[in-house]
Amino acid sequence: MHETLERWGSQRAFILAVTGAAVGLGNIWRFPYITGENGGAAFLLLYVAFVALLGLPVMMAEIMIGRAGRRSPMQSLLQLANQAGATPHWRWLGWFGGVTVFLILSFYSVVSGWSIEYLVESVNGDFVGSTPAEIGAGFDAFLADPLRMTFNHTLFLLLTMSVVAAGVANGLEKLNNLMMPLLYLLLLVLVGYAATTDGFGTALAWLFRPDLSAVTPLVVMHAMGHAFFTLAVGACALMAYGAYMPDHQSLPRAAVAVAALDVTVALLAGIAIFSVVFSQGIDPGEGPGLMFVTLPIAFAELPWGQLWLGLFFLLLLMATWTSSINLAEPMVAGLQGVGLKRGQAAALVGVAVWLVGLLSVFSFSSLAEVHWIAGMNFFELVTTVPTELFLPVGGLLIAIFAAWVMPRDIALRALDAGPAGYRVWRTVVRYVSIPLTLVVLFSTLI
Ligand code: PHE
Repeated sequence: MHETLERWGSQRAFILAVTGAAVGLGNIWRFPYITGENGGAAFLLLYVAFVALLGLPVMMAEIMIGRAGRRSPMQSLLQLANQAGATPHWRWLGWFGGVTVFLILSFYSVVSGWSIEYLVESVNGDFVGSTPAEIGAGFDAFLADPLRMTFNHTLFLLLTMSVVAAGVANGLEKLNNLMMPLLYLLLLVLVGYAATTDGFGTALAWLFRPDLSAVTPLVVMHAMGHAFFTLAVGACALMAYGAYMPDHQSLPRAAVAVAALDVTVALLAGIAIFSVVFSQGIDPGEGPGLMFVTLPIAFAELPWGQLWLGLFFLLLLMATWTSSINLAEPMVAGLQGVGLKRGQAAALVGVAVWLVGLLSVFSFSSLAEVHWIAGMNFFELVTTVPTELFLPVGGLLIAIFAAWVMPRDIALRALDAGPAGYRVWRTVVRYVSIPLTLVVLFSTLI
């Protein structure tokens, strides 16, 4: 397959597209509940450190490979491996990334479906006048209803795959342009409300005053996995977007902008959600339902709360939509590379993801007690292993490939930050990111 000639329309469009991939459930849904389960500030500190030391440099590595190859991840890796005189087996990294995004998308679609349900319920005014206990019970009742969940999961996948089938670059830019500022605005409104609750001070202390004695190897592993997940790094998904990156754009500058936007969304969401948690006496370790229980309570207290809540879920849906499009893209590009038409590839991926997603749907009802490994049911497994093991392993291999295997002149051009910038990046990846990932992976596995 030849080099793709498609490009994002501008530098801004590229940054928006990558931000769209990064900002999603990871920031607003996963970050608060995983921080809640791992003790707060110490976890947050580790996560930010991992974003800076691992996520950012490896994000650059990943986009570089796509930009230099200008093909699907598998073919870009193969092409660059050939140019470097390295083994063609590097292309299997693209395949491994495909498995990772496949598994992530399967649950991502189910949880995004929850946002569809909540969008509809808030527009209907279902939360008006509900007590916190009723809101919690309503969420449990929804989880116990596989039919409603399947309906929303199906709808969300249809939304995603129809955009992917039409070709990524079309339309995403406008969507991101509209969504990101609105999402920020609404989060700021929420934080403003949070500041008036009596849980605000406790929430800030809990998020920003770390107690390092709470750190265990497992907490470190969770933080590392989350840094990769939230930045969309380690699954070759950003590699697929890198293939469309315009010439003459500094990659480090783009990556730093994305990471800053991404972390800010998580922090704002965290402050808002934990203020509600502490003012209502909710358990921070409540789990995956945390956001769905706290936000309706928070908005119910605001004037026109129902309207705000509906808008919030609409924006969340847009954010998860742009992320899931990114998750689907490498699989579709890969299948196109072996001769399928784009529409066929999107349909095939959609059906397969839908089927596996059903296992997550039923993990809250008939399959709840079916434990696969280490006492985890399917949903617990699929939200843990691909994120916390596959993404770091994929990121590690991406980093090794970009910093040790790729020919220097090609990498230098793809990074587009001058020889000095390249040297700094390579030193960080070689001597910080790679060893750090290895140490964390081995220490938890042992
Ligand atoms: N970054 C996305 C989020 O935070 C999830 C994602 C992971 C997207 C991996 C693409 C690849 O929701």
